[in-house]
Amino acid sequence: MITKPQNLRIAVQKSGRLNAPSMQLLEHCGIHFESVRNGALSLKGSGFPIDLFLIRDDNIPGFIRSGLCDAGIVGLDVLEETADTESDGDNAVILRPLGFGKCRLSIAVPTACGIVGPQDLNAKTIATSHPNILRRYLKRSGINAIVTELSGSVEIAPALGLADAICDLVSTGQTLMTNRLRELTTVLSSEAVLVCRNDLSPDQEQLLNRLLQRIDSSIRASRSRYIMMNAPKSSVDKIKEILPGMEHPSILNLSHDQEKVAIHTVADEPIFWSTLEQLKLAGASSILVVPIEKIID
Ligand code: PRP
Ligand code: ZN
Repeated sequence: MITKPQNLRIAVQKSGRLNAPSMQLLEHCGIHFESVRNGALSLKGSGFPIDLFLIRDDNIPGFIRSGLCDAGIVGLDVLEETADTESDGDNAVILRPLGFGKCRLSIAVPTACGIVGPQDLNAKTIATSHPNILRRYLKRSGINAIVTELSGSVEIAPALGLADAICDLVSTGQTLMTNRLRELTTVLSSEAVLVCRNDLSPDQEQLLNRLLQRIDSSIRASRSRYIMMNAPKSSVDKIKEILPGMEHPSILNLSHDQEKVAIHTVADEPIFWSTLEQLKLAGASSILVVPIEKIID
């Protein structure tokens, strides 16, 4: 009899833009992997019962949907592109957007061409490596365009006379600029998402929930800051108004100065220089802003 493996099987991108931040997220969750040997496709984690599978990103949703992996980190664009929209309900569900790998799937046209809006794409040819998402977009927008599928180097298609427009991922916009293309419209905003199968065993579900708690803590910690400052007692109310998320700061008496207190708090939002300047104007001094490594409530 074959028994199911006990470890949580997680798929991450083998190489490419999501690989490093995905590995880093797991490291932040206290999960370490033996250094990746060339060609190794699976790694055992230490610090958590996990097996990591390094897979080409277009194959990650399939590994999860078919039950070969329990969960994975993949771009929303890949998940949507591989989704089977014919059957009712996808058995791969999104648990969390992860805040990295942000990009957009956009339609772009040659800078000098006369296409000014999506409706001008009627009867035009669009080259893309995301034909399913593009076809769905064209259908719901009532645009009758011809979709040509290319697996890579999509941006070169108009210059080669293969297509009038392209639909590809844009991050900084550098590739579009280099190829003299201008963005016409965004079809999908994408980022890395944590995905799992919706029919996990109770054991796997429990493990995944433990992992999720660590991921949430890590995401929250990475965007939060611990702020400490001294301030006259009379300034506390004003300071509370300036700082985001400052409803419940800790206010501590200072033994060496009866007029002042120490204010400590966690801010869930970025602290800008302008905020620090406002705090100083309100009477705060010795202001410290420090990164947080972990938060567990
Ligand atoms: C991606 C994407 C675009 C480019 C966009 O390609 O397909 O070509 O990045 O990034 P930019 O807006 O910052 O220039 P990638 O380099 O990952 O290679 P690929 O097309 O072979 O997957
Ligand atoms: Zn590309």
